[in-house]
Amino acid sequence: MHPTRKDFPQGFVFGAATAAYQIEGHRFGGAGPTHWDSFAKGPGNVVRAEDGATACDHYHRYEADLDLLREGGFDAYRFSTSWARVMPDGRTVNPEGLDFYDRLVDAVLERGLKPFQTLYHWELPSALADRGGWANRDTALAFADFSETISARIGDRVASTATINEPWCVAWLSHYLGHHAPGLRDIRAAARAMHHILLAHGLAVERLRGMGREELGIVLNFERAMPATEAPADAAAADIQDQIYNRWFLEAIAHGRYPEGALAGLAPHMPEGWQEDMALISQPLDWLGVNYYTRAMMQAAPDQPWPSVTAVEGPLPKTQMGWEIHPEGLHHFLLRARDALGAVPVYVTENGMARADTLEDGAVKDPERTAFIFDHLDAMRRAIADGVDLRGFFYWSLLDNYEWAFGYEKRFGLVHVDFETQARTPKSSFHALCAALAR
Ligand code: NOJ
Repeated sequence: MHPTRKDFPQGFVFGAATAAYQIEGHRFGGAGPTHWDSFAKGPGNVVRAEDGATACDHYHRYEADLDLLREGGFDAYRFSTSWARVMPDGRTVNPEGLDFYDRLVDAVLERGLKPFQTLYHWELPSALADRGGWANRDTALAFADFSETISARIGDRVASTATINEPWCVAWLSHYLGHHAPGLRDIRAAARAMHHILLAHGLAVERLRGMGREELGIVLNFERAMPATEAPADAAAADIQDQIYNRWFLEAIAHGRYPEGALAGLAPHMPEGWQEDMALISQPLDWLGVNYYTRAMMQAAPDQPWPSVTAVEGPLPKTQMGWEIHPEGLHHFLLRARDALGAVPVYVTENGMARADTLEDGAVKDPERTAFIFDHLDAMRRAIADGVDLRGFFYWSLLDNYEWAFGYEKRFGLVHVDFETQARTPKSSFHALCAALAR
């Protein structure tokens, strides 16, 4: 497919996404320490122990970065507002941090772009991490206060606000699998985080609604879980993986319940009285964000503790992350989102690929990324034809950036970043996508 704007409904929003810690440069502007700064220093946690101290220096270069979006003909910019920048200890305001986001939002608007804000994209202030982070209910309460503080400053000008980015990563990946900060492998902490992160969402929505804010949503990540073989045990492995990864969050926000099989494993570790939070967690939303990258081939692993599953390598072509390219999965989840949430509009808030891009003679040629984007746009177009109220697509990411545990090794950007000089070079995929938007 060679997409054009005309293949999508009038008003469909094309944008690119980033996140604060991954691009800003956390050492600038009075931001406080986060659990990612300390996690990165732990042995074996992050490639070359890199952190987000400098990242893309977007804190100083945001105007030029936003010029790229305007020049490319994009409609919107998805960014996050760092809790630790706005409140270095999680509770006390840093005026410089608020000023930065004030300038940023104005700069987005001046370029005719719609600002799509995310409140939590993973940089938990260390002071809160020290008190148990997301395993502690108080973190969710503090998050509502942060949401109110930042919204009081910029909420009058943002087009949309997401509470949490990818709660599965915040909870399961970080507290059970240990791959992200705080790097725990603790089912009790994981169960609590699985609930508290959704509670944080519910409390923030309630607080922002109380301020009269609109266009409130949450960004969920979905990964299709498929059985590695035809063995019934592998079908069961795919099913429990789907419950923990996908259904836990979708069913909580859509129906106020957790899926049975996942709950059976987590129930002994859930915080007392969790049932009473489910109405708050499932209050109506204005939109749902879908992040989609890949599928996983699941196998039973009876020698491992619950949920006793493991992922094995699949046969499809892969990105630099080793993730299989499977656009059909995006179509699949857009339909599932529609089935769960009915008339609630949906955005693809992230989709993209990492590639070992190199700069040659001043250019980066990444035709695989262009094909990846076009194939996923086709999946979106088919979902719209099937009745999904899909309102927009944000490519992840505008810039090569700090890819968490992978440091600066994996390049997702439409724009190449030289991390020595901070030079930006739009890749051939940037030009291809912009040409599609101009048609
Ligand atoms: C999802 C996350 O939101 C983002 O922070 C990350 O860089 C991309 N996926 C790619 O892994």
